[in-house]
Amino acid sequence: MATNARTLPLWAPKIDPARWVDNRVYTDPRVYEREVELIFNRTWLFAGHASEARETGDYFTTTILGQPLLFARGNDGAVRAFYNTCRHRGSKVALEACGHASAFRCPYHFWVYDLEGRLIGIPGEEAYDGSGFTKEENPLVGLRCEEELGLLFVTFNDDAPSLRDYLGPKIVETLATPLAGAQYEVVKYISYELPVNWKVFAENARDGYHVPFVHPFFRKASPPGPYFLHDNGHAVQRLGMDPSGVEPELWAKIVQHTLPGVETGDGYIVTLFPDATITLRSNVVSIDSQRALGPSTVLMESRVLGIVGDSQDVRDIRALGHATWFLNPVELEDAPIFIGQQQGVAAKGVRYSVIARGADATTGTRGDDNRLRQWWTAWRAAMGVEINSLAIELD
Ligand code: FES
Ligand SMILES: [Fe+2]
Repeated sequence: MATNARTLPLWAPKIDPARWVDNRVYTDPRVYEREVELIFNRTWLFAGHASEARETGDYFTTTILGQPLLFARGNDGAVRAFYNTCRHRGSKVALEACGHASAFRCPYHFWVYDLEGRLIGIPGEEAYDGSGFTKEENPLVGLRCEEELGLLFVTFNDDAPSLRDYLGPKIVETLATPLAGAQYEVVKYISYELPVNWKVFAENARDGYHVPFVHPFFRKASPPGPYFLHDNGHAVQRLGMDPSGVEPELWAKIVQHTLPGVETGDGYIVTLFPDATITLRSNVVSIDSQRALGPSTVLMESRVLGIVGDSQDVRDIRALGHATWFLNPVELEDAPIFIGQQQGVAAKGVRYSVIARGADATTGTRGDDNRLRQWWTAWRAAMGVEINSLAIELD
């Protein structure tokens, strides 16, 4: 992208502006506010897995960017997203994290909404006669929710492209092995809050440079394969498996029950812009997503997928695979790094950090920082800026 010299701050380093990041983007509330407006309120956000609302009447609730949301599978088999807010006096309609319902009855004055969000019952409805109020004009307010390969996404943007277009054919094709080959369900869910900016993990998932230092086991047992940069800021890193150095007993377990269509040892990390990471390791798929809670707080969520009908033993093996390949490295090894980085970038006297390693090739076997730069290219496009900064506003 051409750089407008006017946008370059005086303190900018003398390197390609695509190769450094203004450290304030990790801490400044003004940057975060702008990201909420221009990224989170416009793009598709991972919301959950289809198995979390598998049958008609199944529902779950969540909060994204402070917005109370309700996801319910309707009589037509589609999952819909609504603001979880009663049209009467604004109470939450569903209070539980998940459940099954034939309709939603608001706990305050018992107004009732059907699974498609229509307002179908009001106690003492005749008292509204003559007020101009109608049930038809007051359904639950919906948001766009789309499902691809069992992955549910939501957007606050009525004008967003379809989810399939947003993901693009290459990402859908990559995820289809193994997700198209069986019916999956969440077998394990973990969430934890970290005192870091949401971009720290999004970047880390694309940073191969730290892996030998922070994740020596992962690096040794998991040699990198080719990477691919795709449209809209999404990327794929293929991974292999190398048993040397892995305890044989552990190895024997984590290569069992390979998922449909997957060769033992094949794997990938799919990083979706802005902030979801889907990992395949032979016998387990995991989805790691983040909910930004503020400029310096993020809720990390991790879902492990298994195949419907798996025995408990098989579930345990998939969970062990996930812990071995992904969760433990992130939770135990990366999390302290994330926190140290977040504290470090708060330093006023250090204005930028560097993502200058390697070439900008869109595929190859040596990724360097190009997956990071590609992520930042998508960030700049969304934010409408020419450098990895809001320097004009912040200086
Ligand atoms: S607030 Fe929901 S019925 Fe009154
Ligand atoms: Fe890491």
